[in-house]
Amino acid sequence: MLQVKNLNVSLDNLILARDMSFSLEPGKVNVIIGPNGTGKSTLLKTLFGDILPESGDISFNNATLKRKHLSQWREQFGYMPQDIKLDIELSVLEVVLLGKLDALSLRLDDALIKQALTALEKIGLLHLANRPVNRLSGGQCQMILFAQALMRNPKILMLDEPVSALDLHFQHVLLDHLDTETKQQGWVTLMVLHDLNLAAQYADNLLVLKDGNVIASGHPSDILTPALVKDVYDVNAEVTKDAYGIPFVRTIRQGFLPPKTNSQTHRSPSRTTAAQGLRNVI
Ligand SMILES: Nc1ncnc2c1ncn2[C@@H]1O[C@H](COP(=O)(O)OP(=O)(O)O)[C@@H](O)[C@H]1O
Ligand SMILES: [Mg+2]
Repeated sequence: MLQVKNLNVSLDNLILARDMSFSLEPGKVNVIIGPNGTGKSTLLKTLFGDILPESGDISFNNATLKRKHLSQWREQFGYMPQDIKLDIELSVLEVVLLGKLDALSLRLDDALIKQALTALEKIGLLHLANRPVNRLSGGQCQMILFAQALMRNPKILMLDEPVSALDLHFQHVLLDHLDTETKQQGWVTLMVLHDLNLAAQYADNLLVLKDGNVIASGHPSDILTPALVKDVYDVNAEVTKDAYGIPFVRTIRQGFLPPKTNSQTHRSPSRTTAAQGLRNVI
């Protein structure tokens, strides 16, 4: 279990965590959502030990994050930060192998190379193995960094907006793979997403961050409501259940009035009636 207790984090007088507490269980996909600039990336960096909190405890099983044992702490993590540029003269295979940096020696072990190739094959990118990473597209880089994080076989896997550059196919390849591995290996997985419908499909536990706090957490079916979307993003939305019983968030553009139906046209309803109908939905 990864536990955060009474965490306080400020950067340049900006409070990004205010007495924040939560715990994350192994074998579950935890998804963080929240507005831009609310401190989602800062939270992941703090858990990794990149940012020093003002106060609070971060612990995993029986170990607590302490500056003097930082490298030991980080060994437990796979971490895919936001917007990493792979501007280096390395091949895709070499970048994936870096996930096992601690195990690399002057002679490369065949088993390690096989593991890296298998990681690429599983996500459908084996054909890129010998390509230089600095010539890949943003989406391809994101998938390669995902393969690198998997190579670590971490206890805690953190991904910061891992699907932001991916097409529909690779969004699902990455998230399906992540879900399967999280459950099979018992990882604590924590990922930032912006797409509420992907979050609804893949989160076992959703954490909603706003104003330095987790203002709601739980299964998406229990917490994703129009009121929450309005509160967090100031956007009107309908939330229905799809055919699979999963919440579906349909946002509504500002000032939208539903089109008049034929019967309404005959009975000459006012715009107020349509607007009222929208308000009832919201
Ligand atoms: N190293 C830093 N020093 C000062 N301010 C920072 C630093 N890193 C991030 N910030 C600020 O903290 C806020 C939260 O940033 P971030 O955690 O990246 O937000 P999010 O990931 O939720 O969009 C932003 O206003 C950002 O400009
Ligand atoms: Mg961020």
